[in-house]
Amino acid sequence: MCGIVGAVAQRDVALILLEGLKRLEYRGYDSAGVAILSRDDRLQRVRVAGKVKELEDALAREALYGSTGIAHTRWATHGKPSFSNAHPHVCRGEIALVHNGIIENHEELRAQQLALGYEFTSETDTEVVVNQVHHHATGGKDLLEAVMDTVAELDGAYALGVISRSEPQRLIAARRGSPLVIGVGIGEHFIASDVFALLPVTQRFVFLEDGDIADITRQAITIYDSKRNEIERPIRVSELTADAAEKSGFRHFMLKEIFSQPRAVAETLEGRIAEGRVVEEAFGPNAASVLDTIHSVHIVACGTSYHAGLIARYWMEAIAGLPCSVEVASEFRYRRLVVRPETLFVSISQSGETADTLAALREAKQRGYAHSLAICNVPESSLTRESELVVMTRAGPEIGVASTKAFTTQLVVLMLLVILLGRRHGLGVEDEHALVAQLESLPGKLNAVLELSDQIQTLAEQFANKHHTLYLGRGSLYPVAMEGALKLKEISYIHAEAYPAGELKHGPLALVDDDMPVVAVAPNNGLLEKLKSNLQEVRARGGRLYVFADPAAGVENSPGVQVLNVAPIEEPIAPVIYTVPLQLFAYHVAVLKGADIDQPRNLAKSVTVE
Ligand code: M6R
Repeated sequence: MCGIVGAVAQRDVALILLEGLKRLEYRGYDSAGVAILSRDDRLQRVRVAGKVKELEDALAREALYGSTGIAHTRWATHGKPSFSNAHPHVCRGEIALVHNGIIENHEELRAQQLALGYEFTSETDTEVVVNQVHHHATGGKDLLEAVMDTVAELDGAYALGVISRSEPQRLIAARRGSPLVIGVGIGEHFIASDVFALLPVTQRFVFLEDGDIADITRQAITIYDSKRNEIERPIRVSELTADAAEKSGFRHFMLKEIFSQPRAVAETLEGRIAEGRVVEEAFGPNAASVLDTIHSVHIVACGTSYHAGLIARYWMEAIAGLPCSVEVASEFRYRRLVVRPETLFVSISQSGETADTLAALREAKQRGYAHSLAICNVPESSLTRESELVVMTRAGPEIGVASTKAFTTQLVVLMLLVILLGRRHGLGVEDEHALVAQLESLPGKLNAVLELSDQIQTLAEQFANKHHTLYLGRGSLYPVAMEGALKLKEISYIHAEAYPAGELKHGPLALVDDDMPVVAVAPNNGLLEKLKSNLQEVRARGGRLYVFADPAAGVENSPGVQVLNVAPIEEPIAPVIYTVPLQLFAYHVAVLKGADIDQPRNLAKSVTVE
């Protein structure tokens, strides 16, 4: 999604803004731009319909000097990716503005502005915002008041950075629904869509709340809430360092993140288990009293995080004995539903800024769920601030658009939750010890499965020229197949669909032929024999099978069947392990296809619009 950076400083800010944009590239975008007020108060702007590297080249040809500026990477919503739609947008050479979000009443505002004589140079919803600020500013208001009046007229979501030629030492920031942080420097201040963008210049941040408007100068930051009352927001010191978002010798962020899963899982468990049991306080001081009241669970999330929820449903019902439903957030938020009493609403999100998941949490609060719990990877994100209980996944920054370590650490946290709830509903101490032992064994087992990377690369070579594929799993391995298919399609652009293997004969089997490879996950569990029968159905139709299997599963290499053995792993934790070879498989196929691994086309890391 769009990325924003801004600065008001004593030094030239062009390079700071550019570095900030580079560090936001992972969010996904299609065009980029920067606007800087020159020392003689001219508003200078450079934009490109392409990558930040092209913007950097353009700035090398046409250097912009000045100490107040804003910059942007655009992920197209209204209007195609193009030079004229790229931000910053400028009104009459006076005011420049960058925006992340969607202005829902842009057509109405556009009509009003056309009547006032404003001209439009883009197809964006954003241009009405800069015009509106200009309109209020020419009515005698200063920039802060003009932005305040403008945002009061906007429907929809926004994070904004605004500068004006007539107030060159001032940067106004505002947010509602889209993330924005202020970086606190010494004699200089910054804004950005997330902290990564600003880590080279500061580790001190103020996280704006929905409705906040900030008046930022070199010397001061003054924040107003949506009712225009001046308000204090705390300064938080980030533990992240500037190199947190670097590849550390790996070819891609995604590969680095896949390989960091043993450590990420170990950190997720750190301090949360003791003497073979889950530490209840790890879920917060109020966790015990909340969990005591819970008799059912509703999980809501998007994409990969939704898949984590689907796996947790198998665990929640089998281990904790509690009814559990799982739903994609974009459906949940618009559905009339029946809320069971004593239900815990669980939201899962790597970023904590996914617009649909956030809206679902807000909706859940209105609809009378007993309590809410968020599982999230980004501290101080909107989701963590709005949920009653919060458990962090501690995976560390995830930069690749394709989510990997966030998923496996979500599963770990979900298992901890299942154990805590299970304890209250008949899960015995011995069973808890066994589950905790499985969790503790995960880092070692993940390391073992990562050693298969070269073999998986060889397997991937047979896939790079395919256009369609099916993924199969059964039980809690069905969502693993869904996650594997999602990974393959998002980074290699090969069409992949997942099915519960028993469902194949009810339709999808018609697709199977020599040119439709079928990937399956086959741990040695109670559904193995059923799965093997389903695989036979594929072979009988000439389908080629690629099976990630337990050595004891009895699935052997044979013509049309290629098996990659995965070290034995017990139920119920098998989904965590079987996810990893599918991540590596998608990765190697995508590399062979020459795809943009970390920033796949059309996708964004943090989906902050609906
Ligand atoms: O930040 P979130 O976990 O809320 O993001 C949800 C999805 O947008 C995300 O998982 C997406 O599906 C990933 N690109 C999958 O790899």
